[in-house]
Amino acid sequence: MTTLQERINAEAQDLQPQLINWRRDFHAHPELGFQETRTAGIVAEHLHDLGLEVSTGIGKTGVVAMVEGDGADEDAPTILLRFDMDALPILEETGLPFASQNPGVMHACGHDGHTAIGMGVARLLVKHRQHLNGRVKLVFQPAEEGVGGASAMIADKVLENPKPAAAFAMHLWSRLPLNQVVVQPGPLWAAADKFDLVIHGKGGHGATPHDTIDATLIASQIVVALQSIVARNVNPTDTAVVTVGSFQSGSVGNVISEKAVLQGTVRSFDPEVRSMLHRRIDEVAAGICQAFGATHEFSVPGGCPAVVNSPEGAALMQGVAEAVVGQEQVAQIAPMMVGEDMAEFLNRAPGCFVLVGAASPETGPFSPHHSPTFDFDERMLSTGVALMANTAFAWLDEQTG
Ligand code: NI
Repeated sequence: MTTLQERINAEAQDLQPQLINWRRDFHAHPELGFQETRTAGIVAEHLHDLGLEVSTGIGKTGVVAMVEGDGADEDAPTILLRFDMDALPILEETGLPFASQNPGVMHACGHDGHTAIGMGVARLLVKHRQHLNGRVKLVFQPAEEGVGGASAMIADKVLENPKPAAAFAMHLWSRLPLNQVVVQPGPLWAAADKFDLVIHGKGGHGATPHDTIDATLIASQIVVALQSIVARNVNPTDTAVVTVGSFQSGSVGNVISEKAVLQGTVRSFDPEVRSMLHRRIDEVAAGICQAFGATHEFSVPGGCPAVVNSPEGAALMQGVAEAVVGQEQVAQIAPMMVGEDMAEFLNRAPGCFVLVGAASPETGPFSPHHSPTFDFDERMLSTGVALMANTAFAWLDEQTG
């Protein structure tokens, strides 16, 4: 006798050609965060065609639908499955036949694959809804790439009516072996916060420095000094990154700049380390500015907490992953400093965020995520569908005993 799990695995395989079509269509038509109108439209139409009630415009361009098990009453448990939809401001250089037709925008993180997987999951959940012991809230999220899509959806009450008790998501990963599933209890990915520093000096002629306060010189010293925060303020057994990625100051060689703008990112796992990093960046900038008679503004325009998987969520995922890909294909890795706003959901509805390997067994790992030649092995798509669909059934079964 085949179990439901085995049937879902087989049906996910059967969906593979469809999953590839969806993924390549999304790949050819990438959209930046909060602009995913075409993508959201296709998702919404698909969910609607499956007979689901669909809410659009949740968190600007997000889409939400609920799959209710037959006989799920008011008190039935609800699980949230989340799939992200946005692309990146990168000029694609893959040369693929389905490469981006939107120059300067590229699905360089695999969210095209995630969206296709979510559509496949919806189909299998609806098909087997008589076995669903509760509700599945399917969340197609906009703007994962650092612009606050998860928070926007939460502000639009995606976690209410009904409130999910657990949240699960996956990310394909082009550097991990095909269909390896990384299930990590505890921290997996880091808190990631942007920061901006504006240094205000006093501009003037390049030949009369004594009449100026040189914002370029001061900002340069700040960049160097910020590197001492990880070296000298973070406990060596903790982990953190401070990166200044952008330095803008002045516009011409013979004028001393009055204003410099530094932009960077900080990464951490521990919430106390996270707030200490913010405080120290502000203090270091303030001290150096004061020494030179300049002033500064410090702000954190966006960020998200660390992705931390609950022990229960990880244990459930471990069992599901073993059943889908086999025990030898389930792995753990060292935590990575990558950020992911799935953390916003996990902080409110504990669960698990897993990685699914998408390197090619024939040609090896693809270019890193966020690079102009990024790609992934599409054979992971059906694995993603089987994993997420089975997770919904398994979690609801666990809740209802
Ligand atoms: Ni991503």
